[in-house]
Order: sequence, then C-alpha cells, then structure tokens
Amino acid sequence: MSSGSHRHAAEVGCLTIAGGHVGGTISVPGDKSISHRVAMLAALASGTSTIRRFCNGDDCLATLSALNSLGVEHAWDDQVLSIYGVGRDGLNAPGVAIDCGNSGTTMRLLCGLLAPQDFSTTLIGDESLSRRPMERVAEPLREMGARITTTDGGPPVRIDGNPQLRAGRIEIEVASAQVKTALTLASLYADGESRVSTPGMVRDHTERLLPLFGCPIRTEGQATVVRGHVELQAIEFSVPGDISAAAFFMVAACLAGHGVTRIVDVGLNPGRSALIRLLQDMGARIEVSEHSAGAAEPTGEIHIWPSDLTGIDVPKDVVAPAIDEFPALCVAAACADGETTIRGAGELRFKESDRIETMAVALRTLGVFVETSSDGLLIRGGDISGGTVDCAGDHRIAMALSILGLVSRDSLTVTGTECIQTSFPGFQDLLAKAGANIIGNPEIQISAEKP
Ligand code: S3P
Repeated sequence: MSSGSHRHAAEVGCLTIAGGHVGGTISVPGDKSISHRVAMLAALASGTSTIRRFCNGDDCLATLSALNSLGVEHAWDDQVLSIYGVGRDGLNAPGVAIDCGNSGTTMRLLCGLLAPQDFSTTLIGDESLSRRPMERVAEPLREMGARITTTDGGPPVRIDGNPQLRAGRIEIEVASAQVKTALTLASLYADGESRVSTPGMVRDHTERLLPLFGCPIRTEGQATVVRGHVELQAIEFSVPGDISAAAFFMVAACLAGHGVTRIVDVGLNPGRSALIRLLQDMGARIEVSEHSAGAAEPTGEIHIWPSDLTGIDVPKDVVAPAIDEFPALCVAAACADGETTIRGAGELRFKESDRIETMAVALRTLGVFVETSSDGLLIRGGDISGGTVDCAGDHRIAMALSILGLVSRDSLTVTGTECIQTSFPGFQDLLAKAGANIIGNPEIQISAEKP
C-alpha cells in the first residue's frame, strides 16, 4: 500500500505552435470535477474503492495528498486508483496545514468535509489560490454552525471542527457547484435532512455519485435534499473523460480540423456540455452520440468537422454550464466572423486568473479587437498575428491560447505552460499527435519526480 501520490514528470516552460491541424481519435484525461468528488466520498466510505481513469493532474493529486494527511491511504496499480476508505468518522487531524496548491475545488470541498470533524485544520494554497474568495463557502457553512475563519475573505482558512452541525435549509447565494458540494458534504454529518440550493443550475456530479455510495438524495428543482448519518459504501467507478479538457480539441477541430475529429469516452453531463451547443450556434458541425443510457454519468463521443464560425451573443443561461469553457470559447470567437458578446460571466474574474482580463490582454497582443466589462467581453473575430502571450499561470488559458497557434499567421508562443499539469498532463503530446506543429522547445525540461 502506498500513501504517496501518483508520480509523473512535469514539463516546465513554454509552448510554441506553428500551424498544423488536428484530426483522428482523441481521448482526454478523466474528469477533474468528478475525480475530486469520488476521492472525497471514497475516503468517507467503508471499504476500498477502485477508480479507473482518475484525473492525474496536480489539482486532483492535491486532493489525494490532502486526504492522505487526514489518514486516508491510496495506491496506484497501473491506471487504477484504490482508495482505502476510513468511514465517515475515521478522519484524523493532520499534523500541519493542508496545502491545496492551485486547486479551488480541493479547498472549497474540504471546507465542507472538515467543518463537522472533531479536530481543527488550516487550509493553505499557492499564490493564485490565496487570492480566491472563500467566504462564499464559509458563510453558508456557518449557518449550519461551522466555525470557519478566512483571511481577508480568502486562504488561509482555519476550520475549528464542530461535530454538532445543524441540518436545515441552506440557500447559497452564488451559483457554485463547489459551494453546493461543500454544503452537501457537511450535511452528511448533520442530524436530519438538509436542503441545499443554488440560484441557478450547477454541475450535479455529487448528486449523481452519492447514491452509488449508498446515500440516497432527492432533487427538488435546483435543491438537493440529503440525510445525515448515512453510512457510505465503497464503489468501483470509471471516471468519464473530461469535457472541459475536450473543449480545446473541439475548438481546434473546428478551426484547423483535418477531416473528422472524434473525441471518445467523454462525459456528456448536461451541466457541463453547453460548449457543444454554443459552437453549434456559431455554425460548427458537431455531432454527439451518447452510449451510456442508465449510467450515473452520461458519456459518449463527440465528432467535429472543420467549420467556419460566426460570432454570437452568448445566452446568460449557459454561463454556469459553460463556465470553464470560456477560454476555449473566446478563442473560437477570436477566429469567427463578426462579434461575440459574453455577459453575466463576472465569475470568470475569480478563477485561476481573472479570465476576462487575461484573455483580453492575450487576444489584443495577437491583434484581436476585445472590449471588456465587469462581467464579460466583446470579441471581434479577425486575423491572429502570432507572437508571444502569457497565460498568467492559468491552465485553461494556456491550453486555449495554444490552439490559436494552429491558425496564427506566424508561430505563437505561450509562456508559463507548466500550469497545464493542473488538469491535463500530456496535453502537448496529444496536440502534437493530433497534427499540431509544435516547435522543439529547449526550455522544456522534465522536472524532478513529484513527492
Ligand atoms: C467546479 C465548479 C466550478 C468550476 C471549477 C470546478 C467543481 O466552480 O469553475 O473549475 O468541480 O465543482 P464554481 O463552483 O466556483 O462555479
């Protein structure tokens, strides 16, 4: 049994792309959101859960290592992860602060998981995570009786466990799946039923996983009703491919496809797949075939053909189900005919970087007209010049900008691309195999193995 995390080599440096195309069959890593959740629930279950295709990006490894410091061991056998559940009351106090790295999902979900424990913990993160808002999760947890202190609204977050949390009706003010999941995890420890609701639709992976672990839930509109003190049982589970990782290849296949591109074994959860509809609205030829009727998470294939895109007004109701896809969508917009407007997406300012600002700066550097507002952007499609742009340490921006190198006039270099490891180890290789012309980069080094 190993208590260490999965080891992989990390690429450090920048990525230069000089045209090429994408095509063929593409399989992306396991879904990051689902991987975090399945790991935490497996930790609380009795018995050993086995999980295939767990996302091995740094964010999910941060969750495994956090669980490890709480006394939950895991082991890798080839690509299969075993998590040795300790039961709902089996977590131990960690000796030191838990470092969540760059991962907002790790930190926010842990707030819910740790609030009802009988010990205290402190959660810390890297520079980017330290700037992200944590009161949105701390405040509704306090309504249940949690004792949580943030630092100027963000990390470090101090949690003084309170095993006597109150069940009840909790109305979360932000449409955040992370916050909803945190409250749901805390509710597993409260006496009686809790009803947790968000103002709009958010991804429902937690709600789909809980019944598999033997914890029935009820859904009432946007609310989830969950009963506390149910014993969770270990599961065998296969994580679907991450549609948010597939997004970059979907856009690449529209802009620089070579015949049809097939993305296989990918999650098609309706709370995550809005980019497909948005690209179709822009004129993309995309077909979807689902093959998982009855499974907890719908999965299937996405087929994309090269397409001429036209700008659109992005409807506000797709902002939440497409929230992680805006960097990819902005790239599609930059290459589309006409203007694309995005509004009601102020949440983009609170991601791994301020995605409105980072995207605007990069696209302007490449010669694209962009206007920003507090909650969105207007992008006028045009020629992409090429040159050097920075991703501000944001994995999704790094991958989105790389795609522009397929169509830019001159080669395009994205700096800071080591952050791609956050969610998509192997992105560069996959892009090269699909047909992108990636220029040999002397700055790429293989870093020391991760601890
Ligand atoms: C996530 C929810 C979203 C998303 C993030 C992952 C999750 O964040 O942007 O990448 O796994 O629940 P919010 O909960 O802040 O909307």
